Order: sequence, then structure tokens, then C-alpha cells
Amino acid sequence: MIHRRTALGASLGLVILVAGLGALPRATTAQSSAVDLRNVVTGETLDLGDVLPEGKDTPGVKQFLSTGHNPYITDASCLKQGEQTFLAACSGCHGHIGEGKIGPGLNDNYWTYPQNTTDVGLFSTIFGGANGQMGPHNQSLTLDDMLQVTAWVRHLYTGPVGDAEWLNDGQKKTYTPYKLGETFPDDPPGMCAKSGKS
Ligand code: HEC
Repeated sequence: MIHRRTALGASLGLVILVAGLGALPRATTAQSSAVDLRNVVTGETLDLGDVLPEGKDTPGVKQFLSTGHNPYITDASCLKQGEQTFLAACSGCHGHIGEGKIGPGLNDNYWTYPQNTTDVGLFSTIFGGANGQMGPHNQSLTLDDMLQVTAWVRHLYTGPVGDAEWLNDGQKKTYTPYKLGETFPDDPPGMCAKSGKS
């Protein structure tokens, strides 16, 4: 009798363990981030579980969430796609080259929210929104789209290199301000290449 009860207990325990393991991947996706994403206005933590199902664990997103650095800012394949997203989702308010319209300019060194000089800060603003017309994008763009559009916003920058905190020393040396009319080849190789080249 005792023996049976133990067996039952053990198998129940196993069921609970298996159910628990099944739930683990979801929990770790939301919690594995080393970066602290917060709403720029309220300071509230942004819920990384509250995102579109696609594009949430691409290599680029994983790298960003573990390092806080956007690996796309110098990758032509990602910039190309980031530009498309920017033109569809941001330029109506911020202007075609981020020069500012009903929303503030994004291509100079003045920031209403100083944390936008970091990759995590800018990503958080896009994810969680700010005041007024600047709504959250976590349910209209995937995490990967947001990373790409962040890269494009950096690419549009025309201000002094000394204020471009998001660039590392090597990137600062090769920095050239955005020039209107600049083009990229179609489907360049890189982390976001549609044809899978990298
Ligand atoms: C419907 C209009 C609208 C759209 C669409 C929009 N924005 Fe905004 N955005 C604004 C407004 C207005 C503000 C100012 C909000 C504030 O000061 O809190 C703003 C603020 C910002 C800021 C903060 C700038 C600073 O100086 O700190 C960033 C960054 C930003 N937007 C990026 C984006 C990106 C990237 C997109 C596209 C994914 C986007 N916005 C889409 C209207 C918009």
C-alpha cells in the first residue's frame, strides 16, 4: 500500500515536472533578457511577452536582448528593411529622413528623452511609445522589425559623431552622416537577407 502510494506520488510528481518543463521555454523567453526595457515616460517595465509571435527570437533579437547592443546598425541587409518599415510606420509623423514633422526630428543630437542615445532606450521608445501621438509599436511591429527600424533611425543621423553614443570607437571612425539619395543594392547579404545569404 505504502509502496503504491509512493509510486503514485512519484508519477504525479513526474507529471507536474513535465508540465512545468513545458511551460519553461515561454517563461525564459520573457525573462532571459539581460536588458531592462522601460517605458521612457512612466519608467514602467515593458513586457517582452507582449509581442507579435513572429520575429521574436531571430539571432539579431537574441543578441540584442543579451548584450543591449543592436547588431543591425551597420548591416546593409537590415538597414534596407528598416528603411521600408520607417517609411511605412514612422515617416508620416517624423519626416522621410527623420527631419521632424508632427513628431520631433530623429536625425540630430537633440533628444526629448536622453536615453534614446542608447540602443536599449531607442528600442524601448519604439516598443512602448511615449506621449501623445507616439503610440507603442509592440503589437504592430515584430521585435525584429523594431530592431531594424532602430538601425535605420541611427543610419539617418546627421549630427556630430561625438554625440553618437550608440557607436563604438571603431564605428565612430567610419561614421559618415546620412546623405539624401543614398541607395543600397537589392537584397544585400547580411543578418536580415531575405535570400538567406550572410
Ligand atoms: C502618429 C504619429 C507618430 C508615429 C506614427 C510615430 N511617432 Fe514617434 N513620436 C511622435 C510624437 C508626437 C512624439 C513626441 C512624443 C513625446 O515627446 O513624448 C514622438 C516621439 C518619438 C521619439 C522620441 C524622440 C526624442 O526626442 O526623444 C522617438 C525615438 C520616436 N518617436 C520614434 C518613432 C519611430 C521609430 C516610429 C516608427 C516605428 C514612430 N516614432 C512613429 C509621433 C509619432
